[in-house]
Amino acid sequence: MAQTQWWQRGIFYQVYPRSFQDTNGDGIGDLDGIRARLDYLVALGIDAVWISPIFPSPMADFGYDVADYCGIDPMFGDLDAFDRLIEEAHARRLKIVLDFVPNHTSDQHPWFAESRASRENPRRDWYIWRDPAPDGGPPNNWMSNFGGPAWTYDPASGQYYYHAFLTQQPDLNWRNPQVRAAMHDVLRFWMARGVDGFRVDVIWHLMKDANFRDNPPNPEYGPGDADIRRFLQTRSTDQPDVHAIIAELRAVIDEYEDRVLIGEIYLPIDRLVAYYGENLEGAHLPFNFQLIHASWSAPRLAELIADYDAAVPEGGWPNWVLGNHDQPRIASRIGARRARVAAMLLLTLRGTPTMYYGDEIGMENVPIATEDAHDPWEKNEPGLGLGRDPERTPMQWDASPNAGFTNGRPWLPLAADFTTRNVAVQLEQPASLLGLYRDLIALRRAHPVLHAGTYRKITALGDVLVFLRESAEECVLVALNLAGTVQDDIPLPPGTQGRVLLSTEPDRPREERVEGHLSLRPHEGVIVALDARL
Ligand code: GLC
Repeated sequence: MAQTQWWQRGIFYQVYPRSFQDTNGDGIGDLDGIRARLDYLVALGIDAVWISPIFPSPMADFGYDVADYCGIDPMFGDLDAFDRLIEEAHARRLKIVLDFVPNHTSDQHPWFAESRASRENPRRDWYIWRDPAPDGGPPNNWMSNFGGPAWTYDPASGQYYYHAFLTQQPDLNWRNPQVRAAMHDVLRFWMARGVDGFRVDVIWHLMKDANFRDNPPNPEYGPGDADIRRFLQTRSTDQPDVHAIIAELRAVIDEYEDRVLIGEIYLPIDRLVAYYGENLEGAHLPFNFQLIHASWSAPRLAELIADYDAAVPEGGWPNWVLGNHDQPRIASRIGARRARVAAMLLLTLRGTPTMYYGDEIGMENVPIATEDAHDPWEKNEPGLGLGRDPERTPMQWDASPNAGFTNGRPWLPLAADFTTRNVAVQLEQPASLLGLYRDLIALRRAHPVLHAGTYRKITALGDVLVFLRESAEECVLVALNLAGTVQDDIPLPPGTQGRVLLSTEPDRPREERVEGHLSLRPHEGVIVALDARL
């Protein structure tokens, strides 16, 4: 097996810092809070923590509107707190990955203040300014991802500026070499401080059509859909020249040893894999969100796994994501029982897994009434179910008031079930979801075939998905029952013999022999070490 990098062997864990652990009683999580929970993460077994933005920000989009790329928002701490976090994480062999938000700044960033000051300002061209259309309206039909037009008129200078997200998030002009150089220095600033890599926010947005042509209408748009779905984003995102920009980012990453570049990309598989770069000079890991949108049936899952596996270029490394701070939680999407099988799938597929905080204890979406919404998307387009607050609620640590998250008033409400669904309770129960996650992670570590082996589908019939992970050294079979009914005598390939390493149902004995066929209980998944390769 070729030598692998840490980000190929390892498991990423996303922390949404506002909601992980508060230490100063303001009801919002902070860096010292993450530091206080590092031992939990070590015991869980993950390798790298990706922290959503912690930079100074007016928080119009909760930190995805950055006002200073080289600082820490006082809400989260300061640079000393950050250095302490890095030091203590590294002492535990945990990597720290930051969220880099290069597509747009806050409208409060000093660069934008200069840019909007006048048409002659040297920073004017750092952002995207266009004259009004002949009728005085926006320059084209591009929509904001959070509703309404993506252009805001600036009466003082008589032009519109472009913002793919909120009015308060003006897009930087990545065609301007000064912008690129300034942003490269931001990466260097954090890498010099010890940061192990970056998750790059909306990386497929960085370049827009040079002529700002209209986006075509989306034939599938219907009533109740978000505004952004009115048009296909074929001119405003995913432009061919974005790849050269990303290659430059990658070259900066490669100036430092052992760092990783992850890209956030919501695109179909064929477009997604272009982000590895034509000669792998792009992102190490273009995030693969296929499981987030997949319908939970064996043939469908097998199909998307096969399509993705086949599409990842030679030398490119696959990855899988079950959830993040923009998506309904996995336990709410597919149900608590299936979440156990989903955990097994995530941690046995070929490719680096990324977990979302709280999914390991089965946290569910917490309903937030529209009038209590914090998320700007929900506020802009209320009642369509677009809000992202439900998946951002405080981590449920224990049964004490506010789940041990804060001594103050939490910025979002706790889940109603936190006294029974929490880390402390599940640590005491080996059969809990947390216990299963810990076992799965330990198994992935103990059996390199689970991160480095090839993938081969065996069966995808009805509700049963069976696949193999194979290397020269070992062969592991994974069988998942996605349904709530018993699956008796699932035939396995001739000659299959092995022993059970782990089941999602804790009472199945480990080391149980498997020969020729397998029966699975409702929502049961098992991992079997085969005696010999098939
Ligand atoms: C990304 C982030 C999301 C944010 C948006 C704008 O999709 O994950 O939370 O609102 O970019 O920065």
